[in-house]
Amino acid sequence: MNLLITAGPTREAIDPVRYLTNRSSGKMGYALAEVAARHGHKVLLVSGPTSLDLPPGVDFLPVESAADMFDAVRNQIGKADAAVFAAAVADYRPAAPSAEKIKKTSETMTLELVRNPDILGSARATFHFPGVLVGFAAETDDLEANARAKLEKKGCDLVVANDVSRPGIGFDSDHNEVLLVYPDRLEPLARDTKDRLAHIILDAIVELHASRA
Ligand code: PMT
Repeated sequence: MNLLITAGPTREAIDPVRYLTNRSSGKMGYALAEVAARHGHKVLLVSGPTSLDLPPGVDFLPVESAADMFDAVRNQIGKADAAVFAAAVADYRPAAPSAEKIKKTSETMTLELVRNPDILGSARATFHFPGVLVGFAAETDDLEANARAKLEKKGCDLVVANDVSRPGIGFDSDHNEVLLVYPDRLEPLARDTKDRLAHIILDAIVELHASRA
């Protein structure tokens, strides 16, 4: 299978020295890329900035902002049999990033933000991707309901939902605990290393791909 995997955070420039970002380390997406490559799949990893080593045998497209990630996915998704969106993409970016470093001129400062493109949401609707589509859902409440809403709205075959308010799982941890949300069923996966969970998620993707063929 050809897999496209997004991972890591995005950085949204405020000025040449500052940016908005989030707590994603990239570990979940990189674990998926590593396991898939180890099983002989061809993997393209589209990743925001992380401090992780590139897994062996994985093709790599580094990006910085959500707009960069959108362009990379738009250009590459046509070659994929399955696309997996583990990245934590910033939903908003500064409306007018400054070309020069912003000076301290007043006591308060207001930053206007505008919406970023929804990359996962564009996969079916704009890129007309016909393959296996796997989203993630980072939630702090109503895990199942919110993940199911994302699955339906974005036309996913599977959403991997995690509760990012719980310590020891989710962002930046080596562990996670996820709920696999399918259109017709649920499969909770107990807390485990991201590496072992990546094996189970990959098996699920292989099965979804086989069931389409
Ligand atoms: O990177 P780690 O430190 O290992 O942490 C792993 C993780 C918590 C980042 C990962 O498990 C995870 O939950 N990734 C998705 C994070 C997220 O942004 O979730 P969301 O519920 O806000 O977005 C839903 C889906 O839409 C995700 O597949 C996301 O990649 C995608 N999305 C979101 C916004 C956007 N503009 N474009 C997108 O493609």
